[in-house]
Amino acid sequence: MLVPNGLRRTRWYRAPNFTDFPKPKGPALMKIGLLGTGNIGRTLARKLPAAGHDLKIANSRGPDTIDADMLGQGARAVTAEEALADVDVAILSIPFNALPKIKHLIDTLPEDVVVIDTSNYYPGRDGKIAEIDAGQIESEWVGEQIGRSVVKAWNAIGCDSFATKAKPKGAPRRIAIPVAGDRKDHREVAIALVEDTGFDGYDAGTLAGSWRQQPAAPAYTTDLTSGEMGPALAAAERDRLPMRRDLTFALVMERLGEGVPPDAEWGLKLSRAINM
Ligand SMILES: NC(=O)c1ccc[n+]([C@@H]2O[C@H](COP(=O)([O-])OP(=O)(O)OC[C@H]3O[C@@H](n4cnc5c(N)ncnc54)[C@H](OP(=O)(O)O)[C@@H]3O)[C@@H](O)[C@H]2O)c1
Repeated sequence: MLVPNGLRRTRWYRAPNFTDFPKPKGPALMKIGLLGTGNIGRTLARKLPAAGHDLKIANSRGPDTIDADMLGQGARAVTAEEALADVDVAILSIPFNALPKIKHLIDTLPEDVVVIDTSNYYPGRDGKIAEIDAGQIESEWVGEQIGRSVVKAWNAIGCDSFATKAKPKGAPRRIAIPVAGDRKDHREVAIALVEDTGFDGYDAGTLAGSWRQQPAAPAYTTDLTSGEMGPALAAAERDRLPMRRDLTFALVMERLGEGVPPDAEWGLKLSRAINM
């Protein structure tokens, strides 16, 4: 697939398929800064450099605290400020309620930098946010907080599925990840990066429809293929999502406790039982 390349160094690049094969030789495809090296960030830290991208990664505590195992494919540990300097793409993979705290960093990004956000809102974990509880779309709230429209990607896959279920493009039952954003060119960059991590990037349109990939929607953490993704997004019932999201959260807390992500199979069964 040909996609616009962050729109700076070369006009186009051919997105590779993610494999565990050796890193492609030659210049890095895109310069990417990642904030967050937790459940989702640590897998991005491994996969994006493996696909040939130049990746800087940062957490909240400083580069010395980043596990060495995240650097094996070529990611570089830096401060949050350094992570977002001179990049084509910024990926935010930090807790939902921490996003307002990084506005000063986002303010430094040039207009053409693609900002991708992996976040989800769980009031039991993030604290209650009145605007979202009143119906505002999560990514629109994020955009207001950081002063920048985001592309929503990698939010709708569980961290264990993300770490363990990548497949080459065209493989049977390759899992799809929905990508929503208001700028088509930025969405295309995010879709290509999703492909590079071993999943089908599914174009889910603008942020106005991104509630369809929020927690507890049929498309959320149910490991669907591209063919199943469209009907799942269409089947979402907005009024039911908060109740189902909070049920899921309560169940995970009861069975696993705080901070323990479900393993892929248990999480998948739970998501399919509640969301679909
Ligand atoms: N877990 C999942 O299955 C899953 C799936 C899809 C999407 N998501 C969403 O993706 C986001 C990340 O989730 P996660 O489970 O990976 O979170 P996590 O394990 O709690 O990790 C959060 C990371 O963000 C870092 N961080 C916090 N504030 C920061 C700041 N101001 N600057 C730089 N880094 C900062 C933390 O740094 P420290 O290491 O220094 O604390 C940590 O590395 C969340 O919004 C979540 O809802 C999660």
